[in-house]
Amino acid sequence: MRSVVASSHSEACLWAAQLVGRAVRDKPACALGLAAGETPRLMYAELVRMHRESGLSFAQATAFALDEYVGVAPADPASFSFFLYRNLLGQVDFAPHNIHLIDALALDVNAECARYERRIAACGGIDLLILGLGQNGHIGFNEPGTSFVQGVHRVGLTQATIAANARHFADPSQVPRFAISLGIRNILEAKKILLLVSGKNKSEALRLALCGSVDPRVPASVLQTHPDVTLVADHEAASLL
Ligand code: F6R
Repeated sequence: MRSVVASSHSEACLWAAQLVGRAVRDKPACALGLAAGETPRLMYAELVRMHRESGLSFAQATAFALDEYVGVAPADPASFSFFLYRNLLGQVDFAPHNIHLIDALALDVNAECARYERRIAACGGIDLLILGLGQNGHIGFNEPGTSFVQGVHRVGLTQATIAANARHFADPSQVPRFAISLGIRNILEAKKILLLVSGKNKSEALRLALCGSVDPRVPASVLQTHPDVTLVADHEAASLL
């Protein structure tokens, strides 16, 4: 695993955006897997800036959302689809047919998981997957105790994740209890992974993920087994490494 420790969250996001920009320039028709959440917001802003000011083009690239809350409509500002549109997809030049989001309103969740899995396969897999890290060690919405062999699947969110994400909902009781997420198998199948982590509140999870044993109780620890991971962390997140 390569790692970059930046002096601040914003510097980490600039590093991460450089890495993503390089991947897109090297392979314009690449498939990107995209995390939502607070951590990558500034990275996406920098990619938008690079698109507007430095000619970085996503016209041939494909986007896959990493996960989505079950039952939250894409027009809902709390949905990850909304987040990705507002922060990246709607701000750059992805072709609409190359944007793949999870249908969180699908009546048949298992069929939706299978459809999304087929989409990823039809695209030849994900070239660069951008991940954040949950305080409980989750990646995507693969919560502690997750199976390492699962593909796209429905996840029951833990109380810790529900509490951590309540800030995105007007009423904490509205936080969904379920999500659809790429599974650990899909994550390990990505050709490259960028793990972006910021803040003191992630330092213990990052320590367990990178310095502990590979253990389903810390889902991110599975990244130790992937051949091409780049960690970009700010110094607070990296303080226990
Ligand atoms: C988001 C996702 C989650 C987040 C993680 C960190 O698509 O899959 O794993 O990356 O919960 O969230 P933030 O960045 O909000 O701290």
